[in-house]
Amino acid sequence: MKNILILNGSPSGDQGNCAVWIKLIKKHLGSEAVTEVVHLSKGTALAKKKIVLADGVIFVTGTYWDSWGSPLQKFFEDSTDLEGTAALMGKPAAVFVLMHSVGGKGILSRLQGVLSTLGFLIPPMCGMVYSLVSDVALKSKNSHAKDFWQKEDISLILKNFLKACDLEIQWAVWPVDKKNPQRRWLK
Ligand SMILES: Cc1cc2nc3c(=O)[nH]c(=O)nc-3n(C[C@H](O)[C@H](O)[C@H](O)COP(=O)(O)O)c2cc1C
Repeated sequence: MKNILILNGSPSGDQGNCAVWIKLIKKHLGSEAVTEVVHLSKGTALAKKKIVLADGVIFVTGTYWDSWGSPLQKFFEDSTDLEGTAALMGKPAAVFVLMHSVGGKGILSRLQGVLSTLGFLIPPMCGMVYSLVSDVALKSKNSHAKDFWQKEDISLILKNFLKACDLEIQWAVWPVDKKNPQRRWLK
């Protein structure tokens, strides 16, 4: 049984839309995995601790002025020292982005880029954006519906994600400057 960590990057924590989405994810995972949810709005220390033992990590965030949630950004800033370590290397990541209408796909792509650079494994078809616009549009029957990301896609994304959690690959790690990344370089 895999240990899956779900990180909520929303500033609204367990009260927001991302928290509702996380309930859907947990429903789809059912008994296929042991899940633990950390709302990053409450702080990043717990997530940093839990990520070490997780077999895979699911990131959930809304779109806020074209960016992911500030708690998720804080997590990246606080977790810079984990880059290329066993805590992250080759660990599969799935990404779910919510939005009202625009900006989410850019966030999904950039987020997957950041996660890959940190050392996470991004399996194929392991991320999606779901919008209020789609939620409204999908209420009416439409021949274009298949081309919209929809709630049901959670299931196939999780299938790919769990398959990737079974991979065992000895990845090479590029050298990372472990000195204080905050130190001044401008004289
Ligand atoms: C401060 C703020 C900024 C937002 N900016 C955008 C945006 O740029 N594009 C968009 O489509 N939705 C935007 N939204 C809508 C949220 O992304 C959307 O409601 C999401 O589901 C929020 O999840 P949450 O309730 O867990 O925070 C914004 C919402 C807030 C509160």
